[in-house]
Amino acid sequence: MSAERARLFFACPVPTDVGADLLQQVAPFSVRCGGLLANVDDLHLTLAFLGNLPRARIAAALRAGAFLGTRQGCVLNLDYLGCFAHSDVVWAGARNTPADLPSLRVDLNEALVAEGFVSLERDFSPHVSLFRHGKISTQLPEMAAVSWTIDRFALFESEPAASGRRYAVLGEWMLSDAVA
Ligand code: 2AM
Repeated sequence: MSAERARLFFACPVPTDVGADLLQQVAPFSVRCGGLLANVDDLHLTLAFLGNLPRARIAAALRAGAFLGTRQGCVLNLDYLGCFAHSDVVWAGARNTPADLPSLRVDLNEALVAEGFVSLERDFSPHVSLFRHGKISTQLPEMAAVSWTIDRFALFESEPAASGRRYAVLGEWMLSDAVA
């Protein structure tokens, strides 16, 4: 951990049962690609990547998270595997995104801007990264849909670790009951 700076992001943490299902489905493909499977406890859906910031900014980021109060949770159906161009990361995505998720991000962005953070990019492709460092030369396999009730979001600090990175929760906020 750097004394002066912190790599910060807001994300929805994936519950263990949902994450285990996702990892189990993708594990054989990851092995074939020589990829490094994520740890189930590290799985998350990034809402806002803030970057490598002075630690003094953590308090402002926490205020932005807290400002959101009780927003509506949602049910996200993760139903396909994807990979961004020029990237070796394979992720699970949702063909249909419930409107509550982008609107949570819009509100979070407003709160962040009010606290002096740079506005987020408009583009938002909700996804959960499952493995990295794979050599993806074949078509991505189909996956069985996994339903995830998103009931919280958190501010994380990404720290270097022996296994790559570890994510420490700095603050966490509950969302109100999702409407299925
Ligand atoms: P990911 O959500 O696609 O895995 C912590 O590093 C999280 O922030 C990761 O989950 C990562 O992407 C996301 N992230 C890292 N660097 C980023 C960047 N430059 N822009 C946007 N998101 C980033």
